[in-house]
Amino acid sequence: MSHARYPEWHAESAEALIAPIVANEPGPVLLCLQAVQAHFGYVPGDAVAMIAEACNVTRADVHGVFTFYGDLRDTAPPAVPVRLCAAEACQAVGGRELKAEWAKACGDDADLAALTGVDEPIFCLGNCALGPAALVDGELMGCADVARLKAAVTQAQSVGEGA
Ligand code: FES
Repeated sequence: MSHARYPEWHAESAEALIAPIVANEPGPVLLCLQAVQAHFGYVPGDAVAMIAEACNVTRADVHGVFTFYGDLRDTAPPAVPVRLCAAEACQAVGGRELKAEWAKACGDDADLAALTGVDEPIFCLGNCALGPAALVDGELMGCADVARLKAAVTQAQSVGEGA
């Protein structure tokens, strides 16, 4: 799925992003990975090779950093990512049930599933008192339920479309 918010991968743009980081930061691998993901939405394999060369380290070194940080991704994100908190405090106040209900809602609606990626679990959003917590397109939601998640997805989609 293409993601209109992020530009398509473009090697020259990526090189322009990472060159000043490499020039000015000690130990720049993680910063380069984060810059590429912030710009393109993910870190394609070509970027790993590019960062390795720019930082004068091996691809395995870059891959090691990449895999250590769970928020770095190697595939394009869904248009409106939904992430449900899977940590204990939220689990204790309905997080498991919400996950199941959300999975069912996405199972019943292929468009919703494609739009949101169903759910990429995340572990504690610092909103434990208002669990179950979620992120919808990067926006924090407390006391999440399926209806509110769907409404937030619709809202984020309309903003993304410039409505
Ligand atoms: S456990 Fe879910 S926000 Fe902290």
